[in-house]
Amino acid sequence: MNTLLIATHNKGKLREFAQIFAGLDWQLRSLDDLGISEEIEETGTTFHENARLKAEGYMALSGLPTLADDSGLEVAALKGEPGVYSARYGGVTGPAQLEYLLKQLEGVPFHDRLARFVCVIALARPGAETEFVEGTLPGVIEFEPKGTGGFGYDPLFYVLDADMTLAEMPPERKNAMSHRAQAAQAAREVLAGWS
Ligand code: IMP
Repeated sequence: MNTLLIATHNKGKLREFAQIFAGLDWQLRSLDDLGISEEIEETGTTFHENARLKAEGYMALSGLPTLADDSGLEVAALKGEPGVYSARYGGVTGPAQLEYLLKQLEGVPFHDRLARFVCVIALARPGAETEFVEGTLPGVIEFEPKGTGGFGYDPLFYVLDADMTLAEMPPERKNAMSHRAQAAQAAREVLAGWS
């Protein structure tokens, strides 16, 4: 069986990929599994650039085929911000980010609060061009946080089909529709072709 490095320290992410890649001829290893503690800096200005930097950087460190993802929130009324800067939007982290985002959208009516989550996955293997797949999830930025599940911007991300925010959904439901799940499904097709 071939080994694929999933370039993350996040156990939840590893579990999500393991579920979606079940049945493929690939065994998954995380950075922690391999004892890799070096951080590849995300210096790119696009999700593609950052995913490529991580996939190719960790492949160089491990010698293994490597999957890396980069994701974030794009808000139309903010010209696509926070985008690749989602993790540190406004120079703050945690719940303060929700306050910061709401402040940027003060006075913006419901019909102008269109947003989407984007996830780009880069798949790198020695001696080949890096391949990319992506997933997106459209939604609307709420006027106040709702729900306690998920993480990041989930309490402000209203999904029209579901009539609730991502933070109000059971995790299985979010994981079935998320930008990351869609990108991972597409990555599954690429990996099936590799093995
Ligand atoms: P990462 O590239 O997966 O580390 O995500 C970067 C940032 O995007 C996170 O720190 C969150 O702020 C935001 N983000 C990405 N995916 C989600 C999600 O599913 N829900 C909420 N926030 C997310």
